[in-house]
Amino acid sequence: MEPQLAEALAALTTGIYVLTARCGNRQHGMSSSWATQVSGNPILLMIAVDREHFTHQMILESGAFALNVVGIQDKRLEDYFYSSASRQPDNLEPFALETGATGTPLLRDALASLDCRVVSSHAAGDHTLFIGEVVEARMRATDRPLTSHDLPYVYLGGKVLFDRASRRPLELVKS
Ligand SMILES: Cc1cc2nc3c(=O)[nH]c(=O)nc-3n(C[C@H](O)[C@H](O)[C@H](O)COP(=O)(O)O)c2cc1C
Repeated sequence: MEPQLAEALAALTTGIYVLTARCGNRQHGMSSSWATQVSGNPILLMIAVDREHFTHQMILESGAFALNVVGIQDKRLEDYFYSSASRQPDNLEPFALETGATGTPLLRDALASLDCRVVSSHAAGDHTLFIGEVVEARMRATDRPLTSHDLPYVYLGGKVLFDRASRRPLELVKS
């Protein structure tokens, strides 16, 4: 990617979330930053998920997902989902979980969780935009939400991240 384009995209501010899904007995999560509210009535959230991600198939099959908002004090959640330890099926094992109205696992350590039922999906390049209606919200703390500018790396799609310090691509999987 052209360096100026990468830096301009890295200047966008997004939230940092953990997207969770359930499919049968499998429970899984991934870091998510391309996510936002897109309607007030009904309350709709939109997430963009790479079609090659494991989580993508789980959302297609279950028709549900939850967006777990990571607080500054629980940045370890983001560290885990960035690490190689999370690159396995059923990667929610280390965490205390609750179950949302849709049956989707919610992270008890998240600042807030928004449980959504998928109402539509749209192809967008190499990602799918899933639009979800919020069916349940749980607020647990008053911590400040983590944003993209609190992290030294930025998700720009594909298999690499953008490293703010070196202004170069960074391998997505940290060992
Ligand atoms: C900070 C951060 C934000 C990310 N945001 C997204 C995102 O919005 N959409 C996406 O498809 N992948 C995103 N990713 C990449 C996925 O979290 C990563 O590829 C993950 O391993 C996919 O998991 P899965 O294949 O096990 O579902 C992000 C990664 C990081 C580190």
